[in-house]
Amino acid sequence: MKIEVDLVPKDERKEKPSNVLDVPFGTVFSDHMFSMRHDGEKWRDARIHPYGPISLSPAALCLHYGQAIFEGMKAYRRGERVLLFRPEMNFKRFNVSADRMVMPNIEVEVALHSLMELLKLESDWVPQVPGSSLYIRPTMIATEPKLGVRPSQEYLYYVILSPVGPYFKEGFSPVKIYVSDRYVRAVRGGTGAAKASGNYAASLLAGTDATKVGYSQVLWLDALERKWIEEVGTMNLFVRFDDEVATPPLSGSILPGITRDSVLTLINDYGLTAKERMISIDEIIEGLSSGKVREIFGCGTAAIIAPVGSLWYKDTAYEVSNGRTGELTRRLFDDLVGIQSGEREDPHDWIVQVE
Ligand code: PLP
Ligand code: COI
Repeated sequence: MKIEVDLVPKDERKEKPSNVLDVPFGTVFSDHMFSMRHDGEKWRDARIHPYGPISLSPAALCLHYGQAIFEGMKAYRRGERVLLFRPEMNFKRFNVSADRMVMPNIEVEVALHSLMELLKLESDWVPQVPGSSLYIRPTMIATEPKLGVRPSQEYLYYVILSPVGPYFKEGFSPVKIYVSDRYVRAVRGGTGAAKASGNYAASLLAGTDATKVGYSQVLWLDALERKWIEEVGTMNLFVRFDDEVATPPLSGSILPGITRDSVLTLINDYGLTAKERMISIDEIIEGLSSGKVREIFGCGTAAIIAPVGSLWYKDTAYEVSNGRTGELTRRLFDDLVGIQSGEREDPHDWIVQVE
């Protein structure tokens, strides 16, 4: 695939943030972006060009009916090298999301190649400081102007880049999680397993309930019984019951997280038992009072590993691990960040170098 390149003149390029760790997540963007269009038959007009507004008909289908998907991944700096973490998994998942939303696929090699080309040009945007990275946001939207409800025949795919520090303002400190039993995120057969933009819009209202009681993130329960835990707004969740570490199974309503998959592998490497099984909210609440629940943590690309210090459920706050970071949570954070940043050995060949 030929990529046309239109560069911002050197003296017109943006200044990089002086301290990326202080920049609110996803608010600063690099100089260039990648884009290509689908005309109903094939992808065309692959371009790397200045980052900036896109022009869209007010009737574009994505704006009315939400036919839009995205991915989230990161590039890490190791000296002169720029590293990606399991990027092919993101692009495979992108195609799964595309299938669910009746959108065209992008060959994984094409998506990866265009990302590499963009990153080579933008490599000085990959920040150096520990705890930082360059967040990558591949996105596909339905662009055909039409008010009838049907799959679009035109699409725009683009990739933008944002230098980031921690996702949560708390950094690597325990986060407070609000269990919503009022609203649900997804049901089996719905779009929960796809990274579809509408899932996030649908999650916002529960977030406002959480904010009212001083909580930041929502933990979703299953839609049918409101009994089984599913996932957090931007993370999969793990619970350590004594020496068993459990996470909900990929039942079709939660996102198959790449960090989740990596955490399951690391836990097995440690010789602990990692189980994908249904976990009821009652089992967690009981385990918190009996002491059987030792740690709870969330995991995701943006959030990395986030210790949970407190749960809010049915008007009651429950402290987790005395509000501190558990030992397994800390170990996973250190190992994952170590592997992603190229500082630790990569026994599972997860790292791909940009070249
Ligand atoms: N669940 C949801 C709803 C998410 O948005 C994310 C973030 O991408 C995750 C889980 C974690 O997925 P991953 O580890 O692939 O980033
Ligand atoms: C990610 O972790 O990459 C996500 O997509 C979460 C998010 C919506 C910021």
